[in-house]
Amino acid sequence: MSDLSGKNLLITGAGNGLGHAMALHLAGCGAQLVIADIDEPALAALSEKIQAISGNTPLSVVLDVSSEEQWQAAASTIAQQLGYLTGLVNNAGIMLHVPFQEMTLEQFRQTLQVNVEGVFLGCQNCLPLLELGAKEAGSSSIVNISSIFGHVAGLMHSAYAASKGAVNMFSKSLANELPRQGLNIRTNTVHPGVMSAGVSIAGTQAAIDRGVFSSAEEAGQVLMMGNPYGRPGQPEEIPGAIAFLLSDASLLMNGAEITLDGGHTA
Ligand code: NAI
Repeated sequence: MSDLSGKNLLITGAGNGLGHAMALHLAGCGAQLVIADIDEPALAALSEKIQAISGNTPLSVVLDVSSEEQWQAAASTIAQQLGYLTGLVNNAGIMLHVPFQEMTLEQFRQTLQVNVEGVFLGCQNCLPLLELGAKEAGSSSIVNISSIFGHVAGLMHSAYAASKGAVNMFSKSLANELPRQGLNIRTNTVHPGVMSAGVSIAGTQAAIDRGVFSSAEEAGQVLMMGNPYGRPGQPEEIPGAIAFLLSDASLLMNGAEITLDGGHTA
């Protein structure tokens, strides 16, 4: 387990799915957390679990990552309550499962607003807090959650794939730009594969509903084709890599991509 004591970390989309598993793990590693989501009841439930695990009360922020105003307010609250951040995990994301011929411009834009503009706004609004954190602790770390579908094509989620491809190159650009400006802030991406939770489950169900697959069994077989593990990932198998990227054990990692897919895209 990575040692994250003394770290102040913000994670978006923390209320459910992978973000929830990440938050519990990071709290267990000793970090002071800021948990953010649009789902207020989920934040309240998570906050109780974190207190039980670590004895620490996380700072809960109701935040729509696609809203500039809400990011500004969140950054101001964090500055007042914690002073600085040493890590930011841009995890909140959506995946609409719509065939390309039927996808509306509004759906395409909505995906990019949450998955790409949300990451841009998170990085920009947290930059001063991360800069302060780097001065305080030596370095700060941004982890942007991408997907294997930022590298390989899937079915019925062209907007999602476009958004994750954008997150990849946006992240590499920050990795190149920030240190050259004297900022001790690293930026890396994590690429989960098909998971047993969250957007993968919704995607599989949408494909079954549309007759792409005749059953959950068939969907499972097709989706796992080429996956040497023959099974989807579990949410608990993601946070270890995130904790590593947020820790001082990965100081030379900047602009890197960590793929967590059991070898699916190998
Ligand atoms: P999920 O749907 O289970 O959870 C997403 C969380 O983000 C929810 O708590 C939701 O309330 C929150 N959220 C949604 N829109 C938001 C917004 N505008 N502002 C703030 N919070 C918002 O999704 P999951 O699967 O946990 O996905 C998390 C991240 O992991 C996403 O970036 C997704 O693209 C990525 N990912 C997920 C995979 C999977 O199979 N579950 C595979 C690869 C990547």
